[in-house]
Amino acid sequence: MTTDDLASSTSDASLARTQARSAAIETEIDADPSRFRVLTGDRPTGNLHLGHYFGTLRNRVRLQRRGVETFILVADYQVITDRDGVGPIRERVFSLLADYLAAGLDPEATTIFTHSSVPALNQLMLPFLSLVTDSELRRNPTVKAEFDATGGRPMSGLLLTYPVHQAADILFCKANLVPVGKDQLPHLEQARVVARRFDERYGRGGLDAPVFPQPEALLTKAPSVLGTDGEKMSKSRGNVIEIGMDADATAKALKKAVTDSDRNITFDPVGRPAVSNLLTLAALASDGDEVELAAQIGDGGGGALKKVVTEAINEHLAPVRARRAELAADPAYLLSVLRRGNERANAIAEETLDQVRGAMQMDYTTAP
Ligand code: TRP
Repeated sequence: MTTDDLASSTSDASLARTQARSAAIETEIDADPSRFRVLTGDRPTGNLHLGHYFGTLRNRVRLQRRGVETFILVADYQVITDRDGVGPIRERVFSLLADYLAAGLDPEATTIFTHSSVPALNQLMLPFLSLVTDSELRRNPTVKAEFDATGGRPMSGLLLTYPVHQAADILFCKANLVPVGKDQLPHLEQARVVARRFDERYGRGGLDAPVFPQPEALLTKAPSVLGTDGEKMSKSRGNVIEIGMDADATAKALKKAVTDSDRNITFDPVGRPAVSNLLTLAALASDGDEVELAAQIGDGGGGALKKVVTEAINEHLAPVRARRAELAADPAYLLSVLRRGNERANAIAEETLDQVRGAMQMDYTTAP
């Protein structure tokens, strides 16, 4: 692959190829889940909402249950790429942990860890930075989009280089599969470039295979869930339903949801995005079908629709929320989960860093 592939990794043709490959990978997982190691993660910038829950969390739990070894990164260092300061980070990390575990991630099967606790992971960034050029980073579409979204704030060195950091996230544990949305595809290409160039430039230090695998994206056919106003679900728009909200707060948020004046409820995502999104939420939460739900509601109008979606979500999330409340009341347990995850991530990162030093002839622990 050339650097131009990096910039074009979001083109239609490339996207179609990645989608086809993802479908093939799904079959390979069924045949032999032990061939894969998954890494994915989130920035701890706020509480997880239904967009995360239906979009990614449920898929992670599904991969875990199919027997794929999974690493989940709480990307605390990535929080400081595009903002000043860290915010109430500690609280957010533990809240994220509670969301993960309540949704069904099992710390016996899945390693959950924080960036800042794994020095050897971060150290990989140094040799990795030697393998990329600044123009390559400036062309990265995701970096560009995030830079534009900061509204005139100067580009920090960390924002410019965070795709390289993200390559370290993926490669430190030799993950070969990364479930992501399509906005993250340029990062995955960057990780592949780094892995390949490392092999070309520094070699293998006596290993018989490259130190790093070529990680692949797993594009999931995640439903796209909008906020209660029919726009992208995001905290700043005040249109989110958080996993951790209680049933009353959920009902209140949905009461304010945008509908329209046509009392006859129909599923028409293009013509009636807000109404259709509520139907999608109800369908996801009740394992139902949007068109059937719409037919059942008929000309009950927005009020009946909101009642259906509120009940479906509250019923679906009741066990998740009960578990979340138990977890939140037991910070010592959450801490023990994170400590165990960090210990395991550290052991793996140290081993990889040793191989990197070996390949780079920087191993000074044994006599020449
Ligand atoms: N960039 C991702 C996000 O903003 C989080 C993340 C950090 C990540 N490191 C990663 C995702 C490695 C996948 C692989 O959501």
